[in-house]
Amino acid sequence: MKTARRNVLKAGLTAPFVVSAASASELLPTPPEVEGPFYPTIAQKDKDFDLTRVQGQQSTASGEVLEVHGKVVDQQGNPIEDASVDLWQANTYGRYRHPADTSEGKLDQAFQGWAIVPSASDGTFRFKTVKPGAYKVAKDWSRPPHIHFKVSKRGYREITTQMYFPDEPLNDIDRLLLRHNKEARRAMISTLVGNTAIPIYRYQVVLERV
Ligand SMILES: [Fe+2]
Repeated sequence: MKTARRNVLKAGLTAPFVVSAASASELLPTPPEVEGPFYPTIAQKDKDFDLTRVQGQQSTASGEVLEVHGKVVDQQGNPIEDASVDLWQANTYGRYRHPADTSEGKLDQAFQGWAIVPSASDGTFRFKTVKPGAYKVAKDWSRPPHIHFKVSKRGYREITTQMYFPDEPLNDIDRLLLRHNKEARRAMISTLVGNTAIPIYRYQVVLERV
């Protein structure tokens, strides 16, 4: 009884970051997903939190600007400080800046495409980017908009995963996302919060101790 109450309390305190049911005693570790073929290989110095601007350029990235406000926590919901949050994504045209991406989507020289940001003392991290475009991987399969993540911190299992956006029809037919159960899918899909000029998506990363 006591434990149940504690869990409900804990869920309340950490809302809206809680992704699993309030009755669970521990948070579900962020489900792993394939790294995919487009982890950046072209060296770039600019890997800061603002992916809509590239150092030394006047123009800004094309596409729908948004922010992701994230948090790295352990399975008890405690913040994890100074985790390395490494993320990469396609531009608004669904194209990666990677030699292996030979799709027809346009390259956008003003889009940074890659960032490595640390989590703060309260576990939070944030970055500004544009919504990644969907892209075709097979005749009958287009990936829904997603952002790739690799999150690591000494003492925890490194996680490679993908973050999705809510209410995307392609989510419901994506061959990767559909391999996960409902609870895991919920954990991988970010939440749109509030009604701000720049949309804010909330996303939680739960790391498992090694
Ligand atoms: Fe991808």
